[in-house]
This record gives sequence, C-alpha cells and structure tokens, in this order.
Amino acid sequence: MATPSTTKNATTSGALMDTYARLPVAFARGSGVYLYDEEGKRYLDALTGLAVAGLGHAHPRVSAAIAAQAERVMHTSNLYRIRAQEQLAERLVALSGMERVFFGNSGAEANECAIKIARLVGHQRDIKLPQVIVVENAFHGRTMGTLTATGSRKVQAGFEPLLTGFVRAPFDDVKAIETIAANSSDVIAILVEPIQGEAGIVVPKPGYLTALRRICDERRWLLMLDEVQTGNGRTGRYFYYQHEGILPDVVTTAKGLGNGVPIGACLARGEAASAFHPGNHGSTFGGNPLACAAALAVLDVIEDDALIDRAAQLGDRMLARFRAALEGDNRVVDIRGKGLMLGIELATPCGDLVKRALAKGLLINVTHDRVIRLLPPLIMSDADADRIADEVVALIRDFDTH
Ligand SMILES: Cc1ncc(COP(=O)(O)O)c(C=O)c1O
Repeated sequence: MATPSTTKNATTSGALMDTYARLPVAFARGSGVYLYDEEGKRYLDALTGLAVAGLGHAHPRVSAAIAAQAERVMHTSNLYRIRAQEQLAERLVALSGMERVFFGNSGAEANECAIKIARLVGHQRDIKLPQVIVVENAFHGRTMGTLTATGSRKVQAGFEPLLTGFVRAPFDDVKAIETIAANSSDVIAILVEPIQGEAGIVVPKPGYLTALRRICDERRWLLMLDEVQTGNGRTGRYFYYQHEGILPDVVTTAKGLGNGVPIGACLARGEAASAFHPGNHGSTFGGNPLACAAALAVLDVIEDDALIDRAAQLGDRMLARFRAALEGDNRVVDIRGKGLMLGIELATPCGDLVKRALAKGLLINVTHDRVIRLLPPLIMSDADADRIADEVVALIRDFDTH
C-alpha cells in the first residue's frame, strides 16, 4: 500500500492535497482572450482553462447574467421546479436532437449519469450484468465509475478494485467493436469521445461514428458520446456528432457550457431518456439557478455572435497556418484537430514548452507527453489566432536549440 506523501508541492499551499503539478503563477483577473497574473503580467490564453472559457474571460453578458441571478436566488434544490433549468434543458434538446436532460456539476458526473442510464436500460432488458464498451486511451473523469471507463493505467493505478461491467476496445477500430458484438450478449452500450482530448487530440477516421451508430442499431446498443471537451461549439458544430449527421442515444457535456461556472449535462433520447424515475439519480447542486443562468447566457452569446461558425473558421485558419509553417519540419510528427481543438504532435517529449510559453505570456498545454494541445477561445479575432499560431511555431522552432 502506498504511504501518504508528506512532500509539499513547492508551487502551492501545503494546505492543499497534492493532486496537481501546478505552474508557479496565479491569475488575478481576466478579460476576453487575456489573463493577468498577480503582478499584472498579461497572458494570451490558448487553453481557456481546459476548454472551459470558450467565450473568453469575464464575458460581460455571462457576468451580468450571473450577477443578476445571484441577486435574485442562487440555489433552491431539485425539490422544486427550477425555471432556468427547464429553459436550459429545452435549449439543449433543440440544439442536440436529444429529448431529455439531467444536470450535474462536471464532466465526470455527466458520464456517471450516462453509465447509470446504460446499466438501468440493461436491467430493464433483463441483462443481468450489462457491459459498456469503452476504448483505449479514453478519458472520462476521476470518479470510480469514470476512472474505470478511462483507458489509462496512470489514472487507475492505486484505486483498485475498479468497477466491473466495462469491455475495452482500441479507439477508431470498427472491426474490434464488431468482434465484441459477435461474441458478447451482455453489452448494452458504447461510450466514446468523438475526438480523444486528453489522449492528444486524436481524431478518428471520417465515418467512425457512423459505423458505431450502425453497429449500435444492429445490436440495440446505446451509442453514448462523451462531448465534455468537444461540445458547446468548439469543433464547429454544437456537438461533434453533428459533423457526421448521426444521433447518439446519450451525449454528455460540461466544460464550455458554463464558461467557468461548474455545470455538466447528460442528454438522452428514446429508451435512454426515460430510464430514470424519481429516486434513481440526483444531485444537490445539479442544474441550480445560478449555473443554469450562466449556461443560458453562454448559449445566447454562442448563437447571437455565430460562434460555432467562427470556431470552424478560426480552426481552419490556425491549422493552415501551422501546416504552412511546420510541414516538413522533422520535429513535427502530425498537425491535427477540428475547429478550436488543435494538436501538434512532436517527435520528442515536449512538456517543457508549457513553461517556455508561460514565460512569453502564452498559455498552452502538452498532453500525452508529445502533443501540444490548444483549446483557444471561440471569441478570438483573426489576429489573436495568428499570434497564437506564430508564437507556438516559434516555440517549436526554438525547441531543440536550447
Ligand atoms: C472527454 C472528457 N470527459 C470527461 C472529463 C472529466 O470532466 P471533469 O473534470 O469536469 O469531471 C474530461 C475532462 O478533461 C474530458 O476531457
């Protein structure tokens, strides 16, 4: 058994549990595409707190909606009707093609909800031990259920016993799913990210989701998509599956929905939408008036400012700029992404680039050791997008000369 670490993380208060390797900077405020640290230094934010602040920081319409709701009432509980929650559910249903919504407070909770729906539907069909197919390198969260669904030993190690009821397949491998289909009678659902985010912006071949939809239709399985990172307009559609013209049975989202106010949502249609009854599931905070007021304002801004089309344009612009500057560069293995979810895979581990970017006043992320991940705000100007691209290119070009 591991003994508790007594080592304090030098870049934060020892009063905090040692769960994050934090960078030595604290931000005091933000405005649009910029964050400002406690010394007043300005940073161009190409990460948006991991795909959360899609509308940038301190967006005036979102801040005003939060302030107005805070002055009226922030929380009442789900013992009562919550008008903003009802309105938000109706908006999301219209945007998604789903029929009903459950609100929680995070991506992991939205996925827990999806897993519970799958198991419930399985039992309703008399499957005693329903199984959910999940894929290698997936990231679905850190609760016991979602870390079991996650395909990373790093996330799971030390937390055994993991849950039963999951079958693992390679990502973007339709044959592997067909093999499971031919050999298993107790599968009830597939849970997959349309683009794997934490795994390094891994975009499947076109038609992957369509193929999964076909298999799910043939087997009566639920297709459950984790759009916690890809959702809310970031890839150039409200949800990524809309690029392929299919409908899942369940879709989860969080991150960009509240632009920083914690909120998660599990949307479903058909059998999955009516699986729950009072007592099956719940959350004290989930869908409270404050979070829903924020999310309603986010949806208004996305719509009024046509930010979904903008995400597509800006993403194409940045990809083209990266390709023009970096193609043929032997430090670069791949440049990929969709909309404002961009990855540049380098030939060698490049975690160090995060600190170099920080020193230059740019916020980026490196995931899966070798992939520079950019999740910039949907409200950027063309000039902001070009500046991020040019600074990242300069960082890569300087990389092996230090
Ligand atoms: C695809 C995906 N699913 C789930 C999660 C978990 O979300 P949260 O950290 O809000 O629980 C994340 C977070 O990075 C994610 O990217």
